Amino acid sequence: MQTVTRSPTVFRLATRLDEIGFSDIVNIRNRIMKLRAAGATVYQFEGGEPYMDTPESIKSAMVQALKDNRTRYAPSSGINELRSAIAEKLSEKNGIPASENDVIVLNGGMQGLFGAFQSVVNPGDEVLVFSPFWTPIRDLISHCQGKTVLVPTSEARVNGFEETLASYATTQTRAIYYNTPQNPSGVVFTPDEARAVARFAQARDLIVIADEAYEDLVYDGEHFSIASLDGMWERTITCFTFSKSYAMTGWRLGYAVASEPWMTGLRKTILYSSNGVSTPTQWAGLAAINIDSNILETHRGAYRTRRDLLLAGLNELGFTCDKPAGAFYAFPDVSRISSDSREAAELLLDRAQVATVPGVVFGEHGEGHLRFSFSTSTEMIEAGLNSLRRNL
Ligand SMILES: Cc1ncc(COP(=O)(O)O)c(C=O)c1O
Repeated sequence: MQTVTRSPTVFRLATRLDEIGFSDIVNIRNRIMKLRAAGATVYQFEGGEPYMDTPESIKSAMVQALKDNRTRYAPSSGINELRSAIAEKLSEKNGIPASENDVIVLNGGMQGLFGAFQSVVNPGDEVLVFSPFWTPIRDLISHCQGKTVLVPTSEARVNGFEETLASYATTQTRAIYYNTPQNPSGVVFTPDEARAVARFAQARDLIVIADEAYEDLVYDGEHFSIASLDGMWERTITCFTFSKSYAMTGWRLGYAVASEPWMTGLRKTILYSSNGVSTPTQWAGLAAINIDSNILETHRGAYRTRRDLLLAGLNELGFTCDKPAGAFYAFPDVSRISSDSREAAELLLDRAQVATVPGVVFGEHGEGHLRFSFSTSTEMIEAGLNSLRRNL
């Protein structure tokens, strides 16, 4: 019989995947599923998606596209009708002077971020990331064999953005990841803060990777796109998604806007990964872009009500929390029960059946905090708060 060799040096993943992990949030979800399977009530605040259903007009557009047999290969960068509608939206709403050719349609915001980091970061390059931060960003940077350098948002707000960024930048710094509204803190960067980051990027000749996934969920202040500033269009790749604005997380639809050479980088990464987005989904995306703006306004109002309800309850419980100006998360300091956020999350789950995400998942600057999503029913928020009042 022939001996088959399985050498450990062969049967191993390529080294570029060594530093890449799986999300901790998956472990939390598994724990909750187990509890629910055992018949326990769990008040769920750990999620990260809109609680409402996808609007009817978007679903009908998908059905119509299928009936019309719009089911064949589309251009890998997206159908012209959608790219042109997105370009118009970017000029009008975001102040980003884009044409159809500067837009690429993607499988969600994640694919845009993947393509953006792949297009910019070489091995050994450093990326400045405002922190606490959305965890997958570190993995996306590691996938390029780059290094994540955390810049505490609170420090930048106290000491000034340019001064703070300068204290974390080195000769290896290549880019800044700029997320507004932020996950998990709900911070919305002001136009002045965007201008300060832009001045720094221009002075140091850095690229900005902007993530505006929650652009439509702003309650205080306004959403402002850094790429709209003078001199920033050339050095910014901005990633958007349909997931949060239109309650379309499962559709996997997003887009990015950039100039050259970045657009070529994005096109290459998309061509050789998914080779584009499903054609009927793109027709549904066109209906989403053209949706009546009153629907977005109604969603925003519903989120604002939930934010205020949750915030009042958390503060009353002694979990001090800055009011999130955007997104749908509250990120209170829970050190009164434990400064170890994993322990605090366990405690809330065990004693009050309240599921949250430990702040440390979002980096060291998130320690001592828990992330509560207020994208849920007002009944769930009230019941969860009552359980905390009774059991903590
Ligand atoms: C900050 C941020 N950026 C981007 C995304 C990407 O979302 P998707 O891949 O669903 O478009 C998310 C999703 O949670 C997010 O929180």
